[in-house]
Amino acid sequence: MDMFIIRGGRPLTGEVTVSGSKNAALPVMAAALSANGTCRLRNVPDLADVRTLSTLLSELGTSVMREESGELVITTEDASRCVAEYEQVRRMRASICVLGPLLGRRGRACVSLPGGCNIGHRPIDLHLKGLAALGANIRVERGYVVAEADRLRGTNVYLGGPFGSTVTGTCNVMSAAVFAEGTTTIEAAACEPEVVDLGEFLISMGAHITGLGTPFLKIQGVERLEGTEHTIIPDRIEAATLMMAAAITSGDVTLHGVRVDHMTAVVEKLREIGVIINVDGQLVRVRSERPLRSTDCIALPYPGIPTDVQAQLTSLLATVDGISIVTDKIFPDRFMHVSELLRMGASIRREGNNAIVSHTSRLSGASVMASDLRASAALVLAALAADGESVVRRIYHLDRGYEHLETKLQQLGGEVRRVRDEPQNVPTSLQPIEDDTGPNIQRPHFTRSIAVRRATSDESSAS
Ligand code: EPZ
Repeated sequence: MDMFIIRGGRPLTGEVTVSGSKNAALPVMAAALSANGTCRLRNVPDLADVRTLSTLLSELGTSVMREESGELVITTEDASRCVAEYEQVRRMRASICVLGPLLGRRGRACVSLPGGCNIGHRPIDLHLKGLAALGANIRVERGYVVAEADRLRGTNVYLGGPFGSTVTGTCNVMSAAVFAEGTTTIEAAACEPEVVDLGEFLISMGAHITGLGTPFLKIQGVERLEGTEHTIIPDRIEAATLMMAAAITSGDVTLHGVRVDHMTAVVEKLREIGVIINVDGQLVRVRSERPLRSTDCIALPYPGIPTDVQAQLTSLLATVDGISIVTDKIFPDRFMHVSELLRMGASIRREGNNAIVSHTSRLSGASVMASDLRASAALVLAALAADGESVVRRIYHLDRGYEHLETKLQQLGGEVRRVRDEPQNVPTSLQPIEDDTGPNIQRPHFTRSIAVRRATSDESSAS
């Protein structure tokens, strides 16, 4: 297992290119199961999640090759296989994206229910509601969803849930509906750019879809889809993360290959706190001089602030003057990063689906633990701004969704090293504090009341 050692305090400067979007690449790769023939995908990021899905696709009778050019070439060789095993699905929730394409193209899907997740409850009831509305027989047995249909029939389905629409749910229902007899309308469809990218991929294979990017999709079913070529959109979440890295370190960074039209809410929010952002086509220059201002931020469905950047924004807001409130309306429990940020000296209080973030003059380096993909990114950002050295452990979370992040940060002057997570690699500044209360240590003479108060507080903090 690897960890990052980060020395904070240096402004990030220079230029870096944003990779392809993880959350577009995964549903597009899954939808390649629908093609008669070969799909060639460009700008697919080199991520652990992409490799996990490639393994799952190969178990579903599809060959996945990464060419020298970086293109991913996906060809279905055996369309009889329909079981997505728990062993693969447990590694990555997004494996659920094979459900719709398998049902649509092969008439049967047996997909392990995705496991638990550190960011909160992740049901798939809306996925199943949409597929059942298309005429599939759905049952859950022994931890698997089994969906079967001789022929899907077009229908009208509403996909709204208590937290808005569902991104991968919309992907699944759309990927099945393209094969349904007649016309399907999906109301309360997700509008995220990644859903649009999938829709455009399906259209390039021969599907008939209108309304992409709006909550109302209309799909005219077809008999078959052909192989195609497609370029994955840039990763707006990685772009936002790198912009916040520039901001938190008071740097000056130019990002290449950014679809700023996918990031309006994020750009507006960063400008609101005083970050200077200049846009020239797909070039975005991000500068930040202190002091930055506090603000309130609410994570909402697109085009609102993405829930996938609220942890990173929380790290940034922990270093600005004033009090900010960060609310997550999509994943109300997505605050695993807060306890680790507190260890770095941040002043944050949880109130339900809110984090109340007060100003901290300076974060201090510490040894912290990553818990999920975006929380890990938040800890890296905080470490880049903190005094001294930090260790961020369990960075396999980061490897799932950020392509060569440490290389990009090093390219910008960040002092980030990837090492094995072994005691000898922990910087001396972060070695365990010596226990100086040995028998021969002369202790300061506390009055009884202070000694009692200290003992009491130590016990309470241990509880
Ligand atoms: C996608 O997850 C993204 N993952 C997530 O990014 C992202 O945070 C999320 O959309 C929200 O934007 C991929 O695209 C691979 P949802 P998804 O279904 O589709 C509730 C990252 O860090 N819901 O849009 O699983 C659900 O509990 C990842 O890259 C239901 O109630 O999310 C949540 O509160 C993390 N019933 C809300 O809807 C359902 O059937 C949004 O979930 C489905 C979802």
